[in-house]
This record gives sequence, structure tokens and C-alpha cells, in this order.
Amino acid sequence: MFFRFAVLCLGILAVNGQTIKWWSTATLYQVYPRSLKDTNGDGVGDIKGITESIPHFIQSGIDCVWLSPIYKSPMKDFGYDISDYLSIDPIFGTWEDFLELSNALKAAGLKLVMDFVPNHTSDEHDWFIRSVNREDPYTNYYIWKDSLGLDANGTQIPPNNWLSAFAGSAWQWNDQRQQFYLHQFTVGQPDLDFRNPLVLQEMKNILRYWLDNGVDGFRIDAPPHIIEQIDFLDEPLTNDPSCPENQFCQLNHIYTMNQPETLDILREFRQVIDQYQSETGRVIVLMSEPSNLHNFTMSYYGTEQDPIMDFPFNFNLIYDLPAETFAIDIKAALDKWLLDMPTGKVANWVTGNHDLPRTRSRFGIDDGEFALSLYMIRMLLPGVSVTYYGEEINMENTFVSWQETRDPQGCNAGPDLYQKYSRDPARTPFQWNSQNLAGFTTGSTSWLPVNPNYVNLNLEDQMSSIRTEFTFYQRLAEARKSNTIRFGSLEYKSINNDVFAFTREIQADDKYLVIVNPNDIEVRVNVRAAFPQLPEIGLVYLSTLGLTTTANDPIILSDVILDARGGLVVNF
Ligand code: GLC
Repeated sequence: MFFRFAVLCLGILAVNGQTIKWWSTATLYQVYPRSLKDTNGDGVGDIKGITESIPHFIQSGIDCVWLSPIYKSPMKDFGYDISDYLSIDPIFGTWEDFLELSNALKAAGLKLVMDFVPNHTSDEHDWFIRSVNREDPYTNYYIWKDSLGLDANGTQIPPNNWLSAFAGSAWQWNDQRQQFYLHQFTVGQPDLDFRNPLVLQEMKNILRYWLDNGVDGFRIDAPPHIIEQIDFLDEPLTNDPSCPENQFCQLNHIYTMNQPETLDILREFRQVIDQYQSETGRVIVLMSEPSNLHNFTMSYYGTEQDPIMDFPFNFNLIYDLPAETFAIDIKAALDKWLLDMPTGKVANWVTGNHDLPRTRSRFGIDDGEFALSLYMIRMLLPGVSVTYYGEEINMENTFVSWQETRDPQGCNAGPDLYQKYSRDPARTPFQWNSQNLAGFTTGSTSWLPVNPNYVNLNLEDQMSSIRTEFTFYQRLAEARKSNTIRFGSLEYKSINNDVFAFTREIQADDKYLVIVNPNDIEVRVNVRAAFPQLPEIGLVYLSTLGLTTTANDPIILSDVILDARGGLVVNF
């Protein structure tokens, strides 16, 4: 089959008459703005730092930058508590800095996706302040409930047993209004009431505002929490003995999460995007965090006739791969997405983000090798690939002491448990070079500690040698741009339960074979028997860094020897 390409209009490509949108084969790069680059020396990353990082984005071969929130915020949840959705927080810079970034990204041919946080505002948002005062139309913008009375200590009793995702009651008493408000995250993040049509309208206007200011898409935050069941009944206990007191895992969240109305709200957001696309011809991407329930996540996609999200994030390569992962687990993680995804939709692959331990720190022995193997898988499968900043140099979790802990989820867990809950270890500064504080800041401190391994693990060093994590990442990004990886067919297998392998093929173009050994020991397999359509001999395109086999070495497929946790990409 011969593939013909034609650029139709802004961001749409036609392949054999089928339209392909820019995002459907893109590499997205998630920036956690506080931690990429600090240009004003206050120890916190900023927008100018992101702009200065554009040459790095280009060298990394990414297509699109997704920014965690940069809006005005008291930073109780580091930007996920927004006090003004239409302006930039001074810690990150000015509106001019934002425009400069947006223009510079455009000039570099890169897209820009913003985080969109509809579930809650900051308690310092003007709407909340007015709501506390019962000022219309804001009186019912949030979920307010009466107290159930006073307990023996004279403390107000909350309306039900609902818990915050960050531990403790999800209800906060407000003395002024003499009512409780719901906050599913920190006390400083009151939940909006999405049953109020004015709230929905406000949020749609915000989307429109940023579209008018040139952004290319949104990542919707926390959709499972967006609407609650109207009876406000107690949630059932999980009776999970491993769940600490007061933690979110105590309850089965059948009334606060995944309510059927969620999809109607997401559809309303879709409508804004569709209208904007048809008015301007620009192609916008709408993606979201997944639900904790797989089937509900799949419903976020909608259908071909009733599309909702372009894609909800696929965390299967995170949640479905245990510390001791076998080839069959990887296959099952792929099956679960690819077989359940609605017809005509685009897949996506994520291995890490700002809420979870870094990829290379999730799997027992940390030699970095298995993380690289996973990046191979993530980058060479069909669909969207999401890189969390630092993965391109294979950064690992950083130890953050209790005194240094900033994440509210860590702080709320207390000194004994914070290490289990804190998200700080995956949010530490990007390691640019081996200078003081890893070249992250022009100042003398950083908001979270820099990983002491920066002396040996940093971008500059990795750029100056031939076979490093960064050059490995560049090779993957390069392969992603080939027609085979963008449009080729996929066949994947767990061979003898020892190695996970897949092929990407398009007739008349190069073929790729990816082989990964998740075991702690070397394995020897006949890959040819599993993929008889492939030639007996191929050439190595890329290998994980622990392997002695390197690019252009011949590989005999009927007898492949692969070191523990290593991965190979073979080219034909
Ligand atoms: C999402 C974000 C997380 C944030 C929470 C509340 O899960 O990814 O960082 O704390 O929502 O906004």
C-alpha cells in the first residue's frame, strides 16, 4: 500500500484520504513549571525559563508542550488552586512572558496545551469570596451545606463522612457563612457546583478565552470529581486494613466520583472546542486525566458519533505494571487499552507525571534500564506519547525530607507517612548541568531539593557523549517521526512469558521490532518464531544503555540474547 500525504490545513494531514490530526501521532512533553528553569533566581521555575528551554524541546524532538497550571494561585496545591483563571501568577512571570512563550513556541513549530482545572477554584478566588458573602449570582457557585449540629466538644458536625483526596474530612466549616463547603482536595480548593448552569458557563468562557489567546488544547484536571450525587449520603467504608486512618482509601467513592453526569459536563467542554474549530479551522486537542474506573475512562472518549475527549490519559503502563513486572503484564496493559478503546479513537501512552513516582523509581532495583525499555515501548506504539519533564534524561525520584516537604498531600499525611503520599520526589528541579543546583536556577536555593545525582545525571553531560539516556531519547523521538511509527500496523506478543515484543510495519517502508526483557536475568528467545513474517537478520536501531549490542549490530532473530531489563529496537 502506498501512503500519500498532503497537508490540508492548520494541523490536519491526509493519509490515503483519511484525515490525521496533528496531535494524533504527537509527542507531548509535560512541563511542571516550578521545576523546569528559574531565570529570576527565586528558586522557582518560571515562564521565561520555559521559553529559554525551547532549544532543548527542539533537540528532544517533541511536538507539543503541556504546562501544568501557571494561572494566578496562592499555591496551596502549587497552581491547581486557581484564584484567577485569566491571568498569570507573578511567581511564573507576566502576561507578556506568556505571549513571548506562546509566540516562540509557534515560531519553533511547537504546540501549547494548558492545564484546565474545572472541579475547584482557590478559596481566594473572587467567586468564592463573594459566595461566602452570599452575593448573587455567586451564592450557589460552590457546594455549601448546613452543619448537622455541634458535637460534645462544641465542634460543628459535617454533613456526611466524605473524605478529601488529601486526607481528612472533605468539609470545611466557614464561620462567616455559617455553613460547610466541600473540598475534595485541599481546604484551599473549594469544589464548584456543576449543577449550577452559571458555573458551567463560566468554565466554558475560560476555555474560549485561552483559545482566543492562541493555545492549542487543554488537559482537563480531575474529571472524576467534577460532580457529586445529590443526596449527599455517607460513602461506604472500604474496611481496607492497609488504609491509614482519615485517608481517602477509607471510603468507596460511589457518591463523589464518576457520576454519570460527568460525561454531560465533558460534552459541554467538547462543544466549545468544536465550535472554535469550526469557526477558525484550527485543530485543538482535548485530553483529560483518566478515571480510577477503567470503563468510565473509556467512556470519556465518547464514540465516533458522539465524541467527547480526544483522549483520556492512559495510565496502564503505570498502574498495571507491578514492581516485579513480567512480559505478560505489559501485554495485558496494552490489551486493556487497545481492545477496550472505542472504534476510531487514538491511543496514548503515559509512564509518569507530577502526581506519581518517576518511572525509573517504580521498579525495584534502580539501574535505569527498565525505565529506558518502557520509554521504548511508550514512544514506539501507535498514538500519542507523553513525556514527563526529566524522563528524557531518565531522572529518578529525589529524597525529600519531612522539613523540605511542600506537597499538601505529603504534609497532610504527617511525618510518619509523608513518604508514602508526597508527590515532591517526582517534582524536583530539572538537571541541566553539573554546576551548582544543576543549572536550574540563577539563585542560591531551589523550592525543592535538587537530586544530588545531578553531578553525574544531567543534560549537558548526556549531550556531550554518544550513548546516553538523552541521545537514546532523541533516537526514539526520531523514529516516532517515521511513517512506520506514525501510521504503521502493530502486532505485539509476550514471547514465552519472558520477553515482550512488538512490530510496527508499513509496506515499502522500514519495519521496526521492539524487544524488551523485563526479567532480572538474561533471556534467550527465538523471536522469529513469534514473528515469522520478519527476515532472519535485522540491524539494531537502538539498545538500552546496559547492553553491549549497539546501533547497526546485526541481530539474528531466531536466537536473541537480551540482558536483564534491557530493550532493543531492530530495524529491517
Ligand atoms: C489532579 C492533579 C493534581 C492535583 C489535583 C487537584 O489530580 O494532577 O496534581 O493536586 O488534580 O487539582
